[in-house]
Parts: sequence; C-alpha cells; structure tokens
Amino acid sequence: MKEFKNFLPISQAHEIHDILTSNIFPWYWLDDVTVSKEEGSEVPSHCRSQPGMHHTPYVNGRASEWYDKFSFIYHNILDAMGLDCKDWQLDRIRCGLNFHHQMDCLHHQPHIDYPETQVGDHFTCLYYVNDSDGPTVVFNETEKSDEYTIKYKCHPEKNKLFVFDGKHYHASSCPKEHDARLVVTINLSSRARNEQQSEIRSIPEIRSIRPDNLGWVEQKLSPDAMSFLWHIIDNHGSSYKDKLAGNINSSYALTDENDWFLNNVLANTINFYINEFQPQKFMYVVPSKQELRYCLSDMWVNFQKQTEFNPIHAHSGYFSFVIWMKIPTTFEEQKKLHIASDVNSNCISNFEMRYSDILGRQASYIYGMNPDAEGTMLFFPSSLNHSVYPFYNCDEDRISISGNIMVESYT
Ligand SMILES: [Fe+2]
Ligand SMILES: [Fe+2]
Repeated sequence: MKEFKNFLPISQAHEIHDILTSNIFPWYWLDDVTVSKEEGSEVPSHCRSQPGMHHTPYVNGRASEWYDKFSFIYHNILDAMGLDCKDWQLDRIRCGLNFHHQMDCLHHQPHIDYPETQVGDHFTCLYYVNDSDGPTVVFNETEKSDEYTIKYKCHPEKNKLFVFDGKHYHASSCPKEHDARLVVTINLSSRARNEQQSEIRSIPEIRSIRPDNLGWVEQKLSPDAMSFLWHIIDNHGSSYKDKLAGNINSSYALTDENDWFLNNVLANTINFYINEFQPQKFMYVVPSKQELRYCLSDMWVNFQKQTEFNPIHAHSGYFSFVIWMKIPTTFEEQKKLHIASDVNSNCISNFEMRYSDILGRQASYIYGMNPDAEGTMLFFPSSLNHSVYPFYNCDEDRISISGNIMVESYT
C-alpha cells in the first residue's frame, strides 16, 4: 500500500486534468456508480442512484483513440514501484468521474477489479486527477464477505498515485465537498500469473488452441499527427529511391522535426506492441529502456503512380511502419479491371503481409486499399515481409509514408 504525492511532472498532471475536463473527451454514462450489476449490493438502498461517468482507454488488448494520452502512466508506475515491464502487464486503464453527492453511507460497493487476479499478483493503481474528497477505502478482506473491515483510506489529491494489492476488496466514495472526483485507475498484473493460469487451465472435452504469435498493430492517427505528417511531406528531402526495394520513381527522405512523431505517436505504439505481443517471448530481443532508447533511423514518403509497385521485402531495424496518407482508388473498382476480374486473387492495388503459418507455409493477410484506409498506420517487426501491388487507370498519386525504428545507446 503506497501513496505517491506529486506523482507526475506538474505539466503532465495539468494536461491529464485538462483532457478529462475538456468538452471533447468522450465520457459514458453510468446510472449508478455505487453497485456493479454482477455483484449484488452491500450498499443500502438509500445510498444508491448515484450517477457517474466512465471511459476506458484500454482493456485486455483493446485501446480507444485516447489510449496514447494515458499509456505513459503505466511506465511511470513501473518506474516508481521498481517493476519491470517484462514481468508486469497492463490490463486496464479506466477513467472514472463521481459527482458530488451527500450520501449517508461511508462508501460504495466493495469489489475487486479482476476476480481472476486472485490467482497471482495484481496491483490496482489510482491516479487522482483533481483535488477532491471522497476517499478510496481498502478493506482487509480478500474474499467476498458479509462484513468488511477497513484497512486503509486514501484521500483524493490532485496528482497523487495510490497503489495497493489488487486482491483486497476496495470501494470508492462520492465527494461531499467538491463538485467532482476524477480518477484514472490502472490495473497491472504479473505476467507470471497469466502464464501460470494458462498452464493450470483445465482441459474441456474439445477446444481449439491458437498458440501465441507475433503480429502487427493497426492504429488510426489523430488529426494532429496527420497535419504534422503532411507538413513534413511538404518539406521532404532528397530522393530516397536508391535505398528502397520499391519500383517507385518518386520516394523522398523525410525529417521527423524535433522528434515530434517519435515522441507523440511512435513511443506509445512501441509500448503498446511490447505489451500486446511480448516479443521477448519469441527470442525477439526488445531493448531494455535503462540502457538503450528507440530512435527513428529513417523515414520516407512514396508518391506511387499507376503501374508502380513494391515487391515483397522486409526492412532493417527493430520495428517499422507504413502510413497510408492518400489512396485515390478503391479495390472494388480495381478488381473490375480487365486484368483482375475473374481471377482467383485479390491482390490488385492492395497491401499484403506475408508470414509463415504454424505449418511453416506462407500465409497472406491483405489490406484492401480504399480511401477509408487514409490515416491508418500499420506497425510491425521490421523483418515481417510485405508488398504493395500496383493500381491502374488512375492518374493521381497514392501517397504513403514508411519508416524504421532502431535503438541508440545513451552513452
Ligand atoms: Fe475498483
Ligand atoms: Fe516496406
């Protein structure tokens, strides 16, 4: 059980506060924050009916578009607690808003965030976003009980982090003096627990097994990120053609001015990838951030014209990415063209990932290229093979960005 006052640099504390109190952050309505539908209620009925709001930027591998505004807190917590990201995984980031309420009862419904974490280690971490009241109450009990005894109370205070053993039942309470109580809950669990759980899982009569594998990440980029990328495209450098496999005439070097794209987009994507796929399990060495840091070693823009193509190839580095900026064609129309209609492949104009399946055979994953792909980034291990097929009957350029991420030493 640990409290960290002034947990984040003050500018980050202000930024999180400003995001959660802005008029663009998507809060979702809760009829009643005091009880969970699944658990029944210890809360007296006269204390119920307290509405609140929530938004979950991340849970079990699914991220909302706001994920990158909060994901860094996970790393700050690991650093503060002396934990290693190889041993601890992020399960959930949840933003919660309780409104002012003059309730008579001391707290809301006691609960644990993840009943399954009773098997192993799990931390519940509460980051208080504003100065408020309405303490978080942690109980001695680690089992569901008819009566709970209080072990600890933590009072909300802007920029305070409160970490406790997630096995303990706990409860929030509504502010009685302040208008609102804003909290970001971050749940971490031991990766050993997750592996242990998969080992002890009982075998049903029949089931399918899909062993873990590496993969890639799809990410929709924000309007800010797209504006930045169009800006650096407008200021592109000299030809990059001689360094690339693509049969594309116009490719030019790009400069990530002030490391903006690396710091504001890719840093989060790298963390997301490592948390999702745990590449270290596949002997794919992920640099320890104590000794090395990631850098954007090169980045370029392709102005692909009709008939040009990018044959199957891989990149150099740890991670690579492709971003579709402008797609002037639709696969549906391209497929109708004379050379593509009535054939049994769906390659024309599209992007393809190629990888070995569990039998060692070549497998394919095709992205149909349409204007709705604009603003999407694919982020993948650099050695993952991929290709881009040509499009036809269109005089406009298809514009994409690619880049590679390597590591550099601090010393
Ligand atoms: Fe909770
Ligand atoms: Fe490529």
